[in-house]
Amino acid sequence: MRCTILIGYMCVGKTTVGRELARRTNRMFYDLDWYIEERYHKTVGKIFEEDGEERFRDLERRMLHEVAEFENVVLSCGGGTPCFFDNMEYMNEVADTFYLKASPETLIEHISLSRGHRPLLDGKSPEELNVFIREQLEQRSPFYEKAQHIIPVHPLYDQTKVNLLVDEILKTKLG
Ligand code: S3P
Repeated sequence: MRCTILIGYMCVGKTTVGRELARRTNRMFYDLDWYIEERYHKTVGKIFEEDGEERFRDLERRMLHEVAEFENVVLSCGGGTPCFFDNMEYMNEVADTFYLKASPETLIEHISLSRGHRPLLDGKSPEELNVFIREQLEQRSPFYEKAQHIIPVHPLYDQTKVNLLVDEILKTKLG
């Protein structure tokens, strides 16, 4: 089976949903950020800090090509992955792609609940975060919308909501 790739903005729930989708379909789960961190023995935060975003995007592209060629896997990308180089075209060519689409309000809610470190959101006040997310989502949406399937996401407060979203993805794929 071809790779299934989940894309979408930071904190939309790509990792949570991807892990559950992999479990339900008996496939291996990969998170592109984690894969990069393991291959390069450095956290994404440290790569941004010490080597810069340009270097990170280059590694991200290379690691995407590595993982997307695997059979029987579910891959969750970083929020920026589809928006650099020809990554989105590449993903559509080799995989089944799903955009997890949420409103800025839902994303802000997820961000406030998330404990993960995201260098692009560091040090922003709630007002700055609000403006930043709205602007960046607008810039990134044309890339995200190129996915083969679009799945609306409402706040994912609990496992039931996650399961329903996975049902939605499986329905779309089979339908
Ligand atoms: C980024 C999203 C992050 C990570 C990096 C940059 C982005 O991944 O790749 O911090 O540009 O949106 P998540 O979407 O998994 O947080």
